[in-house]
Amino acid sequence: MNPNMQSTPNAPSVKQVPLLTASQIAQFKRDGFLVLPAVLDPELCRRARDAMWDAIATHLPRMKRDDPSTWGPLTEEESTELKAQRPEVGGDPYFAGSDHRFYVRNGAEQFMLDLAPRALWQVAEQLLGEGTVVWPAGEDDAGITTGPCFMCDDAVGGLSTHLGKEIEKWPEKGSFTTEEALRLPKTGPVWLNGQGTRGLYCTLPNSPSPGPEYRGAHSDGACYGRWRLQMSAYIDDLPPNSGGFTVWPGSHSRIWRDQWDAFLEGEKHTDKHLADRKSGGYNDPVIQRIKVDTQPFDCHGPAGTVVLWHTKILHMAGQNQSTDVIRQATIYGFLKTPASLPDPLVVDNTNGDIWRDWSDEVRAING
Ligand SMILES: [Fe+2]
Repeated sequence: MNPNMQSTPNAPSVKQVPLLTASQIAQFKRDGFLVLPAVLDPELCRRARDAMWDAIATHLPRMKRDDPSTWGPLTEEESTELKAQRPEVGGDPYFAGSDHRFYVRNGAEQFMLDLAPRALWQVAEQLLGEGTVVWPAGEDDAGITTGPCFMCDDAVGGLSTHLGKEIEKWPEKGSFTTEEALRLPKTGPVWLNGQGTRGLYCTLPNSPSPGPEYRGAHSDGACYGRWRLQMSAYIDDLPPNSGGFTVWPGSHSRIWRDQWDAFLEGEKHTDKHLADRKSGGYNDPVIQRIKVDTQPFDCHGPAGTVVLWHTKILHMAGQNQSTDVIRQATIYGFLKTPASLPDPLVVDNTNGDIWRDWSDEVRAING
């Protein structure tokens, strides 16, 4: 038995999203994303919506569930007050936001993991390889999560942003090695050690246009690291143009190639001293070219819809042009285990093969 399998005792207990067909895999390889409409458990989606409204009732009670006219943007005063409520153990406030965006940091709770990452477990293993994916165990009884994290500069930066005063323990620069058992409080950046989703990322109605430049479009983090497959899942119906996860089809392979070229030339994702960064995330030359030559796609769908995406795809949260829909998404990145992807391979993709760390099944299908 593969020793990695012992960390996945819960996998069979959660109803699984069906395996992908060969043509779905081909589509995923070509476009860098795939929409699976209404595949998640409706009961868990309902529970997640209730949890969101419970959080709103506690932290932003002027918003009423049955009255969309109360779903206006957060004022500066509201944002400041919410931001100040960091838990004692470190981590982000449970509920916070600004303008038209708010979040609920419940991503390491067991039901949120059952809802999406664990329901997609067999699909994640189908795509990344059986026994090669970090199991999202979530928070323990003390509210702490433990999992592996590749400590590159931007991971360390994420710790600093999302842990608050706890950061005093961490160095400023990354070691570029894997910390096998990084412990993070449940509202901390639990996506870094693979133990939680980002919780709920929500966009209120009538959000402003990102403009013709699509301000905010980016590719997550660096090319080096343990993420390959990510997912966004909607816990409520999401009509078109209502803030859906927006992607630029085919951008994953172009960004992957350019970022690895830049990294192998000595550039790090976080090199702020460079005037023209090739792997900066928001304004890479390749990203400018993609915005000019590719039409973005708005991933919408009924409650329980999942978007699977290659971790390097250019994306953003779309503009919510509706008047009575809150875009409610939970986002998770599946990590390759240290055993299946040792550190020397994490920082080496010299053969340029974007599908090197994916399953034989994925590698064999022509995208
Ligand atoms: Fe992102």
